[in-house]
Amino acid sequence: MKQQQEILAGWSVVWWLFKVFGLPITIPWLVYHFFNIMKEKRKKAALHGKVVMITGASSGLGEALAHVFYDLGCRIILVARRKEELERVKNVLMNTYQTVPTYPPIILPLDLANVNDLKDEVSKAVMVHGRIDILINNAGISHRGEVVNTNIDVDIRVMMTNYFSSIALSKIVLPFMIKQQSGHIVGISSVQGRIALPYRSAYGASKHALQAWYDTARAELADSNVKFTVVNPGYIKTSLSLNALMADGQAYGLMDKTTESGYQADYVAQCILKSILHQQKEITVAPLAPKAAIILRTLFPSLFFWIMQRRARKLDKDK
Ligand SMILES: NC(=O)c1ccc[n+]([C@@H]2O[C@H](COP(=O)([O-])OP(=O)(O)OC[C@H]3O[C@@H](n4cnc5c(N)ncnc54)[C@H](OP(=O)(O)O)[C@@H]3O)[C@@H](O)[C@H]2O)c1
Repeated sequence: MKQQQEILAGWSVVWWLFKVFGLPITIPWLVYHFFNIMKEKRKKAALHGKVVMITGASSGLGEALAHVFYDLGCRIILVARRKEELERVKNVLMNTYQTVPTYPPIILPLDLANVNDLKDEVSKAVMVHGRIDILINNAGISHRGEVVNTNIDVDIRVMMTNYFSSIALSKIVLPFMIKQQSGHIVGISSVQGRIALPYRSAYGASKHALQAWYDTARAELADSNVKFTVVNPGYIKTSLSLNALMADGQAYGLMDKTTESGYQADYVAQCILKSILHQQKEITVAPLAPKAAIILRTLFPSLFFWIMQRRARKLDKDK
C-alpha cells in the first residue's frame, strides 16, 4: 500500500513538472512545426509550372534534382553532354510520375566547357517556355593529381566545366530573370569550395572561384529580385571520382571510398530544394568533420595547413 502511494506521488511530480515546464515548451514547438510544414507545402505548390534548368542532369546529383523538380510539376530543361543518358532520364521521369501534370522535359545535349557556343542553344531552350525561373549549375568534373605534374590543359578543362560554364550560363539567363524581376541561380560548389585538399588543386580552385563569383553577383543584384544560392556538399555517392581527370587528362576510373560512403544524391537534392524554398544564400550539406574543418581554416589557419601537409605526405606514401 505504502509502495503504491510512493509510485503515485512520483507520477504526480512528473505530471507537475510536465505541466509547468513541458507544456509551455511542447505546445509552441508543435504549433511552430505545424506552421512550418504548411508553409513549406505552400512554397512547394508554388513551384508548379516553374521553368527549371538543371545542368549535369545525365547522372548523379543532377539526375536526382531532375526527379525532385519534375515531381513538383516543374517544366524542366536537362543539360549534359551524353544525349542518350538525358533521353534515359527523361523517359524514367515520364514513366515514374505519370500522375504529375507537367510538360515533357526538354533535353539539351551540350558540352558546357565550350562556353562561347552556349548562348544560341540555351536561349532557344529558354524561349520554348518564354521564361526561366531557376538555373541549377550542377555539371562538374573532379581532378586527381599533383600540382607539379598536372598538365595545364587539365586545369583549364576543370575550370571551364566547373567555373566558366556556370558563370557563362548565368550570364545568359540573367537578362531574362532581370526582365522578369524574379529568378534563382544555384551553384553546386563543394566543401572543397571552402577548404582545399591535396591532389585536387584544379577542382578546389574551380569551386573556390565559383563561391567568389556568386557572392559578388548576389551583392550586385540584390535589388533585382534574383536570388543566388551556393551549395557546398560533402561526399555524395555518384560517379564523380570515376570521371575525375588525372594529371595527364585520363579518367581516374576508380570509385573512391569517401565517395562510395557519401550521402545519397536524393538526400542532397532534397536539401537543395529546401535551400531554394527558403532562399538561403549558402548551405553546407556535410557531416560534422568537414564543417569543423571549414571553421578551423578560418580561425586557426596554421593548424589547418599543418593537418593538410600531413595529409598530403600520407597520401603520397600510400600511392
Ligand atoms: N560526388 C561528390 O562527392 C560531390 C561532392 C561535392 C560536390 N559535388 C558536385 O556535384 C556536382 C554533380 O556531380 P556528381 O557528383 O553528380 O557527379 P557525376 O555523376 O559525375 O555528374 C556530373 C555531371 O556533370 C555533367 N558534365 C560533366 N562535364 C560536362 C560538360 N563539359 N558539359 C556538360 N555536362 C557535363 C555529366 O554529364 P555528361 O558526362 O553526360 O556530360 C554529369 O551529368 C558537381 O558539380 C560536383 O562537383 C559532388
